[in-house]
Amino acid sequence: MSGRYFVTTPIYYVNDAPHLGHAYTTVTADALARWHRLVGDEVRFLTGTDEHGLKIQRSADEAGITPIEQADWASARFREAWEQLDVAPDDFIRTTEDRHRASVQAFMQRIHDNGHIYAATYEGWYCVACEAYYDPDDLVPDDDDPAGPGRCPIHLRPVEFLSEENWFFRLSAFAETIERWLLADPSPVRPEGKRNEALGLVRGGLQDISISRRSVTWGVPVTWDPSQVFYVWFDALINYATAVGYGVDPERFDDWWPHVHHVIGKDIIRFHCVYWPAMLAAAGEALPQQVDVHGFLLVGGAKMSKTAANKIPPIELIEGAPDKGYPALGVDGMRHHFLRQRFGPDGDLSVETMVGRYNSDLANGLGNLLARVTTVVGKKCGGVGPAPRPDSPLAAVAAEAVADTVAAWEAVAPSEALDATWRLVGETNALLEDTEPWKADPGPEVDGVLGDALEALRIVAILAGPALTRSPAEIWRRIGLDGDPAAARVPDDVAWGGYPGGRPVEKGAPLFPRLSVDG
Ligand code: ME8
Ligand code: MG
Repeated sequence: MSGRYFVTTPIYYVNDAPHLGHAYTTVTADALARWHRLVGDEVRFLTGTDEHGLKIQRSADEAGITPIEQADWASARFREAWEQLDVAPDDFIRTTEDRHRASVQAFMQRIHDNGHIYAATYEGWYCVACEAYYDPDDLVPDDDDPAGPGRCPIHLRPVEFLSEENWFFRLSAFAETIERWLLADPSPVRPEGKRNEALGLVRGGLQDISISRRSVTWGVPVTWDPSQVFYVWFDALINYATAVGYGVDPERFDDWWPHVHHVIGKDIIRFHCVYWPAMLAAAGEALPQQVDVHGFLLVGGAKMSKTAANKIPPIELIEGAPDKGYPALGVDGMRHHFLRQRFGPDGDLSVETMVGRYNSDLANGLGNLLARVTTVVGKKCGGVGPAPRPDSPLAAVAAEAVADTVAAWEAVAPSEALDATWRLVGETNALLEDTEPWKADPGPEVDGVLGDALEALRIVAILAGPALTRSPAEIWRRIGLDGDPAAARVPDDVAWGGYPGGRPVEKGAPLFPRLSVDG
């Protein structure tokens, strides 16, 4: 089942620090990368920061610093947040790097040479927060200015009228190509509702789009007209190609490009499911293999964003923030919470659901299973872990959990994958409750049940690895195994019967201390 897997996140704007919305996408992509490593794929995982454009130029002006100072500061905050969450990208790209400038210029020059770019004047309503022009029909009513043009539907902020002579990309010529791509089976855009949204954009009619700015200086100069810079979205989207050597290392690009999987939020469907495939087609490159689109994390029903007051820095939920009533979920608790969120629909974040999920899955589920097994092995088996029974009632449960976990990760459904993995946790806890080895006399019956439970823990420590980056290695160590569960291979190493028995088992401190709602 091995192949290549190139997974990307959006590159985030550097006008402010990272919040949980960015963390959600990035942890999901990190987990996908870890899953694909487990199944033996060759993986590249890319994230980074989007540093050019009017929005960044303005926020630097407001802060009284230069755009590159702004970008250096914020880019470092993103790197730091990813370290705090055990997100381990193979590459972190910044659009201000020389390698990126080279790729953008080569990519856009190719589109130009292929005859898809022309000069024209453009005027229209622009949202600086989106860095995008809006059709007047798509704006939402502005209560403060009922006679005005309306507000941006995403940021609910007033739009500005911009008028410029610049370079245009013949987007309209690619409508059929994009529609054909979107209709492919299996669908390149998941879930289905998001594909339909992209189809709606294409079928609603595509107009040519301005790809350069004369009034902006903070960007990549247009190769054939250095008085302008490329429109920041065109600059930004090309990052995915830069990172695998576009225009510089064609062999590397050809190795990785056909295997690209973009993970994005639904706010940027238009850019990734319409503009980007059209740009790739215009440059003569393959269209993305997959775009996986998730909904918004909401706080009290509102989208968390840099322009809203509800943004939460990830560290406040990892370490806890007692003054705000946030519990300390730890890295594993935070990652688990994100990945148990259904991928696709919007989801509301609340302290109650975070604590509830942590307590049921981690404290009472996996943590309790480990505590029970290690305690009873200490009392009834002299601290030496027995081997599992080949004909254990859990063998079939484990096989099904493995198959369902594999299928769900493959379908980019992390919550279903964790559900499947945790069914093995639940069934193992149930077996212990039914057989009550803690009450029984030592002997083959008790050894059998505990051997089965140790084997279940071994399998779960492997399967849970994409979500939990810390506790699996600790479970592994406490049940007496050598090495690292992250180095295992699925499915071979999760076949029933891998726990050898005869290993020292250690009872330690609770892996996931129970949390209460008030921190
Ligand atoms: O759009 N819930 O950057 P950005 C879930 N630079 N995900 C959220 C979220 C929320 N409340 N808020 C943000 C840009 N995100 C461009 C991208 S890519 C070539 C250029 C996540 O900093 C989600 O992935 O505004 C969303 O698509 C992304 O952050 C937008 O990040
Ligand atoms: Mg945004």
